[in-house]
Amino acid sequence: MGFATDCIHAGQEPDPSTGAIVTPIFQTSTYVQEGIGKHKGYEYARTQNPTRRALEKNIAALEGGVDAYCYASGMAATQAVLTLVKTGERVVVSDNVYGGTHRFFTKVLARYGVEFAFLDASDASDLDGKAGDFSLLWIETPTNPLMKICDIAALAEVARRRRALLVVDNTFMSPFFQRPLSLGADVVVHSTTKFLNGHSDSVGGVAVVRDPAHAQWLQYVQNAAGAILSPFDSWLVLRGTKTLALRMPRHEENGRRVAHFLRGHPKVRKVHWPGFADHPGHEVHKRQATGFGALISFDLGDRGAADRLLRAVRLCSLGESLGGIETLISHPATMTHAGYTQGERDALGIGDGLVRISVGCEDAEDLLADLGKALEAVQVQSTTNR
Ligand SMILES: Cc1ncc(COP(=O)(O)O)c(C=O)c1O
Repeated sequence: MGFATDCIHAGQEPDPSTGAIVTPIFQTSTYVQEGIGKHKGYEYARTQNPTRRALEKNIAALEGGVDAYCYASGMAATQAVLTLVKTGERVVVSDNVYGGTHRFFTKVLARYGVEFAFLDASDASDLDGKAGDFSLLWIETPTNPLMKICDIAALAEVARRRRALLVVDNTFMSPFFQRPLSLGADVVVHSTTKFLNGHSDSVGGVAVVRDPAHAQWLQYVQNAAGAILSPFDSWLVLRGTKTLALRMPRHEENGRRVAHFLRGHPKVRKVHWPGFADHPGHEVHKRQATGFGALISFDLGDRGAADRLLRAVRLCSLGESLGGIETLISHPATMTHAGYTQGERDALGIGDGLVRISVGCEDAEDLLADLGKALEAVQVQSTTNR
């Protein structure tokens, strides 16, 4: 089946008891059994829930995995995947990941004797030389918020040579644009909160795998640790994935318009978007993905300028998330990446003047007008473009 057909149908049969075309919300904590060990495959709702299972099958099909497991948030999915690593093992991480991922790895898991090394993963052979031994490589591509590109196939090879796993957080691209399992990754993670749900009304996460042994383990952890996605959230995300193939091209088209507009604006110093032909990762991204997405970051020079823009926008909403149908704009240094120290942010180039925008599906002209008007409120010290 084609991708759009899978979005609408994979994992979803009309409800056998009523014929309802939409998978019902099975809002139950338990299931009545006929006798000892005699049941319909459902015993307790932490362990099995038909709404959640439909979503898991749906996302597994979209990412081309053998199976998928949904968790209470993107971070809960990350936590489940990191149980594939044991005390004493080493994890290598691409160096500007979502701040919450960095926080969880460095402040929580490091307490359990797992070692984390954050390295620039935009050059796979450089990383290969510097990384030493590791059992798991965790990347985002494009990275958050600097939109660096990591070569998934080359990094899968780097991991494979060490018998290590490659995990890709595919939240920014969604499977509509990028399918890391087909490029050699072992696990794909999403914050379903973002493009998969797409409507800014649910928090959730998913891990998709291609090895049945990993599927078995992640299902075991889902039940054992219990950070499950609720039936209602599962239903909301299923409603969201149905329109993924319709929403993503619109996000992409609007993203392209906004990126070029910002790049041409005299008050914007630098725009990070892999769609520019002179972006260092442009060719690699074109090889491994079918679109550039809707995430753009841009530098206004200092915090005062960023603050003025963020206060002046009217249609773009200042808020901490991305991937919704409505345009969200944020300040990484104080929001998504506040978990990094100032020193770490400075070293990575996440300056106080950096603004990130997740371009929604509104009319592009309205977005450009809003950003243009808000930029009028910005006074910048130097007006070097690019
Ligand atoms: C790239 C990325 N991965 C993971 C997460 C964590 O997801 P959640 O907020 O659903 O826990 C986020 C959240 O912003 C994110 O942007």
